[in-house]
Amino acid sequence: MGLTLGVVGATGAVGRIMVRLLEERHFPAERVRFFASPRSAGQKISFRGRDIEVEPLNPDSFRGIDLVVSSTPDDVAGEMLPHAVKAGAVVVDESAYFRMHEDVPLVVPEVNPGAIERHKGIIASPNCSTIQLVVALKPLHDVAKVRRVRVATYQAASGAGRRAAEELTAQTRALIEGREVTAREFAHQLAFNLIPQIGSPREEGFTSEEVKMARETKKIFEDPTIEVCATCVRVPVANAHSEVVFVETERAVTVEEARKLFSAAPGIRVVDDVAAGQYPMPLQVSGTDEVYVGRIRRDPCSPNGLVFWCVADNLRKGAATNAIQIAEILAAKLAPRSV
Ligand SMILES: NC(=O)c1ccc[n+]([C@@H]2O[C@H](COP(=O)([O-])OP(=O)(O)OC[C@H]3O[C@@H](n4cnc5c(N)ncnc54)[C@H](OP(=O)(O)O)[C@@H]3O)[C@@H](O)[C@H]2O)c1
Repeated sequence: MGLTLGVVGATGAVGRIMVRLLEERHFPAERVRFFASPRSAGQKISFRGRDIEVEPLNPDSFRGIDLVVSSTPDDVAGEMLPHAVKAGAVVVDESAYFRMHEDVPLVVPEVNPGAIERHKGIIASPNCSTIQLVVALKPLHDVAKVRRVRVATYQAASGAGRRAAEELTAQTRALIEGREVTAREFAHQLAFNLIPQIGSPREEGFTSEEVKMARETKKIFEDPTIEVCATCVRVPVANAHSEVVFVETERAVTVEEARKLFSAAPGIRVVDDVAAGQYPMPLQVSGTDEVYVGRIRRDPCSPNGLVFWCVADNLRKGAATNAIQIAEILAAKLAPRSV
């Protein structure tokens, strides 16, 4: 008998992409069940030519399920996913709830696939802005050891969920039509604006998103000495996050060497010809599964420093693709259980 897969949060911004990826990548599951909040119960999701009903999630939902990919708010993950583990399933979770737990591996398959082996039922997928950063840093870290990273992010509306993405569209339309703008999902109007706060305030003036980028990077590289200083900014872009990354390595890496390393690394595409107006941009990158790198330069302010620009689809490589890649590795090893 084949595997039974549960998709939790199947109606969300990330969940919808997960469903699409399962089809596109011919995920080896015999049965797939979709779960969301009671608000979505009974909705139909088209999958492999059939309409499958969305089930309301409850603690008993996981009986007979081998593998769960989950993408819900943190509190829902914290409350519900331990029930999945108790029922014998292995879980890949998108939320931030378990990411920093000591016994939960935090995995990006291009960077630390070996950590999957250490799971005790739950594997966490990192924050979207962390995933694209560590994929880009990995080839530099392997040869020259990353010491210090300063990163500024330009994060798309879809990173805050389906309703947030809809709010940016509604605000833009309202402004163009001369109507009043309302902000519910974001603290301020995002259309025609920038918001230099993602997440809640944390120590020393940082935000929770900025703290996540620092802590998750150290955990994924298993190196607490890497210094990370992030500034995270929400921008009025529909989808795909961008980052400018200033990196310092233990030994100097030339621009030419960096370009070669990026080009050879799994999951990275280099688009880097400023004279020809060629660099990655959210519009082109949206809908793809790679991390794009361009504008690679020597940092004149630091002897061992490089600067580059990095763009990835936050809903795909920053979330759904990363989780499905982990689930594929697990599926290849999991023996299906009888119900
Ligand atoms: N968006 C990104 O770029 C991104 C990237 C990396 C990680 N993440 C993380 O992924 C998670 C989901 O993000 P998202 O952007 O997809 O959010 P979203 O669009 O708001 O979707 C949330 C999903 O969770 C479901 N849900 C909410 N409450 C529930 C409950 N009580 N029981 C069961 N299901 C419930 C929702 O179901 P209903 O439709 O029924 O409400 C929906 O399917 C978050 O933890 C987020 O931090 C997001």
